[in-house]
Formats: sequence, C-alpha cells, structure tokens
Amino acid sequence: MMAAAHDENVVWHDHALTRNDRENLHGHQGVVLWFTGLSGSGKSTLAGALEQALYTQGVSTYLLDGDNVRHGLCRDLGFSDADRKENIRRVGEVAKLMTDAGLVVLTAFISPHRAERQMVREALGEGRFLEVFVDTPLAVCESRDPKGLYKKARAGELKNFTGIDAVYEAPVSAEIHLDGEQLVTKLVPQLLDVLRQRSIISS
Ligand code: ADX
Repeated sequence: MMAAAHDENVVWHDHALTRNDRENLHGHQGVVLWFTGLSGSGKSTLAGALEQALYTQGVSTYLLDGDNVRHGLCRDLGFSDADRKENIRRVGEVAKLMTDAGLVVLTAFISPHRAERQMVREALGEGRFLEVFVDTPLAVCESRDPKGLYKKARAGELKNFTGIDAVYEAPVSAEIHLDGEQLVTKLVPQLLDVLRQRSIISS
C-alpha cells in the first residue's frame, strides 16, 4: 500500500548536498516559470522558444508541457475539475523537485483555476514561482485552433473545453503579463529581461 504523507513511519531525510550546492554547480537559481493561458494561447511555443534561448546561454532548463505530460505522468487524468487539479498538483510537485535540483523549469499548462496556481506558488515559496500569463483573447485562440479542438468543442463533440464550457480564471497578479498576440520573437526578449532583472540569468 502507498504510504500517506501523514504516515508516522515515513520520515523526511535531510541529505548533505543541498539545493544551494546544486545551484552553485549550475551557476543560477532554481525557479519555475509557470505559463498559464487558454489552449492555443501560445504557452508551449513560447516556453519552447525561451528554453532554446536559455540553453544557448548555458542555463540548465526543463520544459514540462501539458500535452506531453498527459502522455505519461498524467495519462490517467481527464479534464474534469478534479482531474485538472490533480494534474496541476503532480506537475507542481515535479516542478518543485526540479527547482530543488537547481533547474530553471518552464511549465506550459492551461491551469485554469486560481486556487491550484496559488497552491503551487505556496509550495514553491517566495521568489521561486513566476507566473507568466499568456494573455490571448479567446477569439484569437479559436481562430488559431491548431488542433481543431475549439471546432469540436463548439460542435458539442468535446465537453468541458476551457473557454467554451469550462472556466478559465485569468491571473490577477501574475509576475509577467504577456500580450499573446505579439510575435514569439518579441515576447522571448521580454521574458529574458525579467529573468535578468531578477538576477536569475546574468547575460
Ligand atoms: S489543464 O487544464 O489540466 O491545465 P493541460 O494544460 O494539462 O490542461 O492540457 C491542455 C491541453 O489538452 C490543451 O492544449 C488541449 O490540446 C488538450 N485538451 C483536450 N481536451 C481538453 C479540454 N476539455 N479542455 C482543455 N484542453 C483540452
């Protein structure tokens, strides 16, 4: 049987090597850039382009992408509110471990509920969670419709689709608020600027 968090027989072990040591090895802090926005808003594309830019600067990164994670770690989850919550909880825990490893973690999940994003924010701690709101109007996402899912949702063939018949709660105080209608080549430098201002990267 799985051990529960409150199991008195499961005791946290403090290891000698710390996050600080690993961060020193990488030459930068471990942080999460949490991209949130509607399906088709550009989260994955943008996170991927930022990751490439960081890679060329020698930053140790990892990109956790909603569609990909749902092929493995979260393959048992659907799109009910409860499943989305569990999706974000798992991804939040993985992202936390990766920041402990000293990585700059980029996550691209719709993460439609404020409460779940807040839960991850609290788990990560101050300064380790940067919320990136990819703010693209629904009409624009729908006109892009890269996977044809909006069309299916409008036709009633796909239920609980975010923005159509499932809620998206826009962030009210994201650290980074991007105009998702701008070109990726304009948005990536904006993200790099913020990372520089916060001394997460140096050049
Ligand atoms: S989240 O709501 O749990 O954060 P996540 O980012 O993992 O969602 O997955 C979203 C992706 O799953 C979308 O980009 C889309 O390709 C696909 N998808 C399939 N069904 C739905 C749905 N009902 N609502 C939203 N996205 C869906």
